[in-house]
Amino acid sequence: MKFFVDTADIGEIRELADTGLLDGVTTNPSLIAKSGRDFFEVITEISQAVEGPVSAEVAATDFDTMLAEGRKLAGIADNIAVKVPLTRAGLKTCKALSGDGVKVNVTLCFSANQAILAAKAGASFISPFVGRLDDIAMDGMGLIEDICNVYANYPKFTTEVLVASIRSPKDILESARMGADVATIPPNVLWSLFEHPLTDKGLAAFLSDWKKTGQSIL
Ligand code: E4P
Repeated sequence: MKFFVDTADIGEIRELADTGLLDGVTTNPSLIAKSGRDFFEVITEISQAVEGPVSAEVAATDFDTMLAEGRKLAGIADNIAVKVPLTRAGLKTCKALSGDGVKVNVTLCFSANQAILAAKAGASFISPFVGRLDDIAMDGMGLIEDICNVYANYPKFTTEVLVASIRSPKDILESARMGADVATIPPNVLWSLFEHPLTDKGLAAFLSDWKKTGQSIL
């Protein structure tokens, strides 16, 4: 399973990239606004900080402008994935950009039928939003399971299932059990995966016993 981080904070991205475990980054207009930075500047920095795909989202809603924006964003770096919303114009843009060889991430997916449309439009990634479905008492993980099963029926679909709107480590583990290709994870949730109280306790005991031996490895 690939791990992307869902943020436009370059400091967090660099720190996570240093672990060697980061496979890509997703951003959206809300995350860009939260960063308080210039869109092109921050996307350029992120695309240089990681080797994997960096999702940068269009802001237009009509096909012509979306396509022009998508082409401009794709020109920033080879690892840009243009993010488009799951609308009629968004999917038309997806088809055009993917035909040009540009990676496209189709975002704001809330049904398996929408995911089928994105795959048919040549999307590299489909982003179903788990947390936002759970927020309205619907079954986010059920959607992931459904999309993974449907895509598995059609080996010609090459679209990767990118689990988005993740709220907790449990969402990641369940996604992995279902065979989702990618999880895009908020930084705090990603860091929390490293933690376990028994790891801390066990390490403290090993270090204390090692000290008693009076030996040194180097
Ligand atoms: C996906 O690419 C989105 O940026 C993101 O996962 C949305 O998450 P949210 O529902 O926490 O805003």
